Amino acid sequence: MEIVFATQNRGKFKEAKEKLERIGIKLLHYDKGYPEIQADNLVDVAIYGARYLSRKIDKPFFLEDAGLFIRSLNGFPGVYSAYVFKKIGCRGILRLMEAEEDRYAEFRSVIVYKEKGKKAKVFIGTCQGMISHEERGTKGFGFDPIFIPSGSDKTFGEMDVREKNRYSHRGKSIEMLAKYLRKKL
Ligand code: IMP
Repeated sequence: MEIVFATQNRGKFKEAKEKLERIGIKLLHYDKGYPEIQADNLVDVAIYGARYLSRKIDKPFFLEDAGLFIRSLNGFPGVYSAYVFKKIGCRGILRLMEAEEDRYAEFRSVIVYKEKGKKAKVFIGTCQGMISHEERGTKGFGFDPIFIPSGSDKTFGEMDVREKNRYSHRGKSIEMLAKYLRKKL
């Protein structure tokens, strides 16, 4: 079975490929982008993108929208994570959290999977953890060097793809997609 992952983020593609190829799914890469609306939740952003892409991609495809939600910042950067990462990066987040004792944060990942003529399926994965006090590790992407998932003392930036997938929001949402696809194989 071949499915397409629409993303311009190579890190996300690597993580999805590592999981889906293990169950015999060939993952193709669509990297031309799609509109990301400004909405206050990840599901609306992803559904809108999937509607747009269903006119561009003929094969079964999925896309994923993710964000980092920090409790002491009232859920910021949340749906604005991509923009905030571009503007202030990990360093900017650490600065905002300087005097903060409550380091709790969670990553959320929403996958929308679509086959021609069928209703879209939504899969949601979350990963709880802490914002570290300094950047650690050079692997991964985005906020990986400042996020320590619960149950580990490493940041995502210190993990290889396989290890990150065992903990991560995306590892979980892709696992749900994989379970759904396995039934069809
Ligand atoms: P989007 O899903 O591409 O809109 O992702 C939003 C932003 O959240 C990305 O640009 C990253 O900065 C951040 N992000 C999403 N998932 C991850 C992750 O697994 N690790 C680190 N940062 C992430």
